[in-house]
Amino acid sequence: MPRLQDKIALITGSAAGIGLATAQLFAAEGAHVYITDVDGEGAAKAAAELTGRGLGATAMTVDVSRGQDVSALMRTIEQQHKKLDVVVNNAGINVRTDFRNMSDADWVRLREVNLDGIIRIARDAFPLMKASGRASLVNLASIMGHRGMRTLAAYGATKGAISALTRGLAVEFAPFGIRVNALAPGFIETALTERVLRIDAFSKALIEQTPLRRFGTAEDVAQAVLFFASDESAFITGAELAVDGGMQAML
Ligand SMILES: NC(=O)c1ccc[n+]([C@@H]2O[C@H](COP(=O)([O-])OP(=O)(O)OC[C@H]3O[C@@H](n4cnc5c(N)ncnc54)[C@H](O)[C@@H]3O)[C@@H](O)[C@H]2O)c1
Repeated sequence: MPRLQDKIALITGSAAGIGLATAQLFAAEGAHVYITDVDGEGAAKAAAELTGRGLGATAMTVDVSRGQDVSALMRTIEQQHKKLDVVVNNAGINVRTDFRNMSDADWVRLREVNLDGIIRIARDAFPLMKASGRASLVNLASIMGHRGMRTLAAYGATKGAISALTRGLAVEFAPFGIRVNALAPGFIETALTERVLRIDAFSKALIEQTPLRRFGTAEDVAQAVLFFASDESAFITGAELAVDGGMQAML
């Protein structure tokens, strides 16, 4: 039996990368997926590909940093399905810059998308997750919330906050039947990392620091999201799973 049969799932930032791979896997496992992204065209294309195969998908243009977009999204789900069984807070951006030269605008944008967006979605989706009676919220944190790397201090600060938020929400939402967990991916080949992973010496050094000796794929992460989304993790809340080929474990 499919692992998400008849579940209603929302995935933010799901027109590309990890979010898209997760939406495709969820739909194949029987869920109706809300594919939402600031790139509305990409979201519509991804949803059309799934519905064309007879799978359940709805596309919406949603910028998680805009309160009115998130409110409209929740109103639509309320009208169409009245509940949310799975919410994946995946939308995220990176601003790679020498910390000393980072502008206020860069920091505000990073925080608005990576942190304010997750907080807004978790808060506004709460009534719909409560209506499910058995919901799972999965947050995309990062290895950068636990390790330091040049040009990634501010990004890492938003991701470390997501790890803390995950533990707090796990405690606060548990009485309502909502589990909350996080994933900490290492280096995954997507548009987010494309430019830096193309730098040969940097790529080589990263692989040497990865016991499994390769970068991750969006599908590697999607499989871990599915674990937290499904009843296979029914007694797990407040946890964070590294999906990093062993990078965090290595000295
Ligand atoms: N790729 C990695 O190595 C890696 C590692 C650790 C954590 N992560 C995290 O995983 C998540 C997904 O990353 P990815 O690599 O798939 O990135 P990606 O850039 O390939 O895809 C991100 C998607 O989010 C969308 N998006 C950006 N801003 C948005 C906004 N304001 N509202 C809604 N959608 C928005 C983009 O349009 C895009 O479709 C992010 O939170 C990222 O921080 C990625």
